[in-house]
Amino acid sequence: MESDPSDHSVGRGGLPNVLGVVELDASIMDGDTLAAGAVAALRGFEHPISVARRVMEDLPHVLLVGEGAERFARECGFPGCELLTPEARAIHEQGLRTRRSPGGEVDAVLAAVASRLSSDPERAAGTDAGTVNVLALDGRGRLASGVSTSGWAWKYPGRVGDSALIGSGNYCDSRWGAAACTGRGEMTMRCATAHSLVAHLRAGAAPAPAGIAAMRELDHLVDPYLGAVHAVVLDPRGRHAGLSTVAGTGYVFMDETSREVRERPRVLVPVAGRST
Ligand code: GLY
Repeated sequence: MESDPSDHSVGRGGLPNVLGVVELDASIMDGDTLAAGAVAALRGFEHPISVARRVMEDLPHVLLVGEGAERFARECGFPGCELLTPEARAIHEQGLRTRRSPGGEVDAVLAAVASRLSSDPERAAGTDAGTVNVLALDGRGRLASGVSTSGWAWKYPGRVGDSALIGSGNYCDSRWGAAACTGRGEMTMRCATAHSLVAHLRAGAAPAPAGIAAMRELDHLVDPYLGAVHAVVLDPRGRHAGLSTVAGTGYVFMDETSREVRERPRVLVPVAGRST
């Protein structure tokens, strides 16, 4: 998916920040050891999830950002890549044309971010914050989780979302389960949603009720930019569920009998939230 230029939520072809630069976030977690690696605001490399994995395996750190992440990716031998495709550039410019404001660069950035966030209902519903979540369970009961994204389109430069943050957009513990989130990261970052979901599994809930309980915690958010949030969860028994704050969404899965992916609807958990 990171290599698919038609997917504008992740990797090459992802939508850029407000200045037109693609910045990628990703994280990976090993549920057996709780080892984790992550990169944030990574520019110029197509596979942030692979760089995150090298952070986990090669460094005594969990998260590298910006220039440091890029330096590390180069040292690891990952090839550089132009992430901004012509199609993504056109979508970005079209979005800015409708709402560009006069003033200095920083003012324009702030104004553009603010106006995009507040005045477009479709974007406020979270369509700009696509992400890919992958949860995996092997035959020995070991869980792993990975998340990759280009983040919130038209975001402020340097903005980091939940996909890079262990506990917010990604959490995995082979004893209890794995969980990952997509959608508006600013919400799951404040509720530590992925960790919360796994904590509900630990307390004895099955995947769907655990997900509903974790998503319900988003009800307490006060935020003018509340948007859609989605989650997936997988436990060590292979039970799984998807959750979403909006109707009509699904997730795909495979098991040991599958030849191709199958789709299941996500459980709808509308978020009450408050804008002021
Ligand atoms: N969930 C992706 C992001 O907010 O960046």
